[in-house]
Amino acid sequence: MAEIPAEYQDEPVIDCGRRLVVPGLVDCHTHLCFGGWRGDEFELRLRGASYQEITRAGGGIASTVAATRAASLDELQCKAESILDKMLDLGITTVECKSGYGLDEANELKQLEVYRRLNESHVVELVATFLGAHIIPPEYSQHRDRYIRLLCDVLIPEVARQGLARFCDVFVETGAYSIEEARQILSVAARHGLGIKIHADQLSNGGGAELAAELAAVSAEHLEYISDAGVEAMAASGTVAVSLPLASLYLGETYMPARKMMDSGVPVAVATDFNPGSSPSYHLPLAMTLACIHQGMTPQESLQGATSVAAKTVSLSQHAGTLLPGYACDLAIIDSPSLNHWLYHFQPNACLAVMKNGEWVRGNLSAMAPIVPYI
Ligand code: NIG
Ligand code: FE
Repeated sequence: MAEIPAEYQDEPVIDCGRRLVVPGLVDCHTHLCFGGWRGDEFELRLRGASYQEITRAGGGIASTVAATRAASLDELQCKAESILDKMLDLGITTVECKSGYGLDEANELKQLEVYRRLNESHVVELVATFLGAHIIPPEYSQHRDRYIRLLCDVLIPEVARQGLARFCDVFVETGAYSIEEARQILSVAARHGLGIKIHADQLSNGGGAELAAELAAVSAEHLEYISDAGVEAMAASGTVAVSLPLASLYLGETYMPARKMMDSGVPVAVATDFNPGSSPSYHLPLAMTLACIHQGMTPQESLQGATSVAAKTVSLSQHAGTLLPGYACDLAIIDSPSLNHWLYHFQPNACLAVMKNGEWVRGNLSAMAPIVPYI
């Protein structure tokens, strides 16, 4: 109390009843805005089809592109807004959100416009990423060079000019974009002032982590199949690895080797990858629990991964994800007596109250009785 500046000394003291108080969570990798869902593919995968087989048969990302193109701006905004409400209920106060289901000028701008509007109207803070290089759109399948020219000559300059995204991302994978193509696209993005992110080494090792290090990307994301050389390169460049354990869970894939990477000096963030295909869950606390169980992260590392380390990947490390003077006062009150307790005892929603920028936006604090001790 003695260290609190005089002007705050008279503020009311809130007794949280011995509960955990954490910085507002930062979900630093989502595909928040999309048309439709893909529950049918969930069953196909349960019956043995792989994610890549479904993609080759014209499903997967391409089917969400068709549904997103068919949806209006208002419909997409309404749907994304309802998901943001549920994220905020969980204690998430900052969300990175990617385009990548429009894949033409009008529809990529439509997705980014949804994010621009929601950033104004919704209490959750959004950071948009341009992912026009998600897949090659079906109508360009025989002319991929033409689509890449469209990205470099028209879309990236337009997105940068309108200030619709802070970052540019490329999905580097067999069936998506090659290393060479990603280098070309991301170099143009950097020249237009966008930060760089890469979906790297998700389904196979393709050298995406090494490319992220070479281009000084702020983050490389997924990395389930990262090579030893990729780990070393990322440690040297300081690129943050974003772990997406919900995608591994849903696809039955291996998990990013987070423990090994952290021990080699790579900072690791934890995010949901929320999207209608590989990760139809926005439950960041569940992702944090999975990071502990499957990736050897401690509860403290997992929480840092979803707060202060995540904030670095969206260039908000001086503003979000940390409870210190000078940072935004974004916090969540968790109905658990400790961090270990929260992350091992999974609850559908353990978050009781949320503050964003110093204002209560969820929860009824007057009703906060002392925590019931678990015996
Ligand atoms: O991060 N890997 C590429 N993109 C998404 C999946 C998108 C989808 O299946 O619709 C991901 O997993
Ligand atoms: Fe993703």
